[in-house]
Amino acid sequence: MPSPLSRRMLLAAPLLGAAAPPPRVHKPPTPHLAPGLNTHASRKRMFYGAAIDTQILRTDTAYMAHVPIECGMVVGEYAFKWSQLRPAPDRFDFRQADLLATYAARHRLRLRGHALVWYQSNPDWLEPMLTPDNAENILTTHIRNTVGHFRRRVVQWDVVNEAILPEDGKPHGLRNTLWLKALGPRYIDIAFESCAKADPGALRVLNEYGLEYALPWQERRRNAMLELLSDLRARNVPVQALGMQSHLDGAEIHLDQKVLAKFCADVASLGLKIVITEMDVRDNGLPADIALRDAAIAAHARAYLDAVLPNPAVIGVVTWGLSDRRSWLDQTMPRTDKLPQRPLPLDTDLKRKPLWASIAGALDVTTVRPA
Ligand code: G3I
Repeated sequence: MPSPLSRRMLLAAPLLGAAAPPPRVHKPPTPHLAPGLNTHASRKRMFYGAAIDTQILRTDTAYMAHVPIECGMVVGEYAFKWSQLRPAPDRFDFRQADLLATYAARHRLRLRGHALVWYQSNPDWLEPMLTPDNAENILTTHIRNTVGHFRRRVVQWDVVNEAILPEDGKPHGLRNTLWLKALGPRYIDIAFESCAKADPGALRVLNEYGLEYALPWQERRRNAMLELLSDLRARNVPVQALGMQSHLDGAEIHLDQKVLAKFCADVASLGLKIVITEMDVRDNGLPADIALRDAAIAAHARAYLDAVLPNPAVIGVVTWGLSDRRSWLDQTMPRTDKLPQRPLPLDTDLKRKPLWASIAGALDVTTVRPA
């Protein structure tokens, strides 16, 4: 990119009748000026985004300054969950979620809603209150009001999060959640139909983890997910996309690109899109050396993305955070040496890491999605 001075001179030259403009100085873009990840994604009619914790949004201005540079989309890491939205059975509190929605609008970022139905992060009053008689009304009231509040501001909803757990021995490998107990499998139908009614324009996503590796327990999950999605599609339940959370493990050797490509093809054959919804790469199984960890994580992520991105049904990548300054992994899956993990594209100094280059590189080599 030419330096501003030469660009100004070039622009001024014709007006001044000057002689031939000075030779263009081609300086490589300095890192902070190089295009962000969403620029790499949007060249392919895809998107890149990140999960944002409202504590970061409220307090870390340096972190947040990098969000519009790198992202075209944001999602609340916690703010849109029942525990934040529903202080009481007859009350909604959208203040935390509105903080992120307002930020997204101000920076012209698209917004994901996560999640309308989950078995975790529910308010204490919910499960004890739920009965087969009142559950449908409680569920539809939540979705109608929440999706209605964010109508035309949230462009994608994780309608149901983590619906499967084959080990529970339920039909279609469904997880035996409070909603399954109260309503049976039709809770999923009700959730998607309520979301479609409240905002037909928002993409409706069934979001899930543990679909990524060639391990027996994840093969069972992939099969259960395909069976569930086939059943929903066969009954015209308005699910539109699968969310592959993609919480990766840099030390996991069972990453089989053929298995991943086949799974994505099977999902796409059902007429569904795929969103990579929560990608990060934990390093708690890797040695402490930072250069080694960063390289291993970058290579792992690149192998994963090179397996899934070739399928045009995959429409975007969202990482579960933008910078290592904050990751759920440090609380939930800490390293035994207690070192902070490095699972995200920017480091704690907000500098781009090899993982950033892996995501950019995988986007650069994939195909342009149809308009
Ligand atoms: O905001 C409160 C704060 O005021 C309080 O002082 C603090 C200590 O109690 O808790 C804070 O809330 C925590 C919240 O994260 C924000 O940091 C909640 O206790 C904690 O349960 C919550 O954890 C989140 C978890 O989902 C459960 O909702 C994680 O941040 C979030 O990364 C994690 O994300 C999930 C996805 O939703 C689904 N896929 C898996 C993924 C990782 O578990």
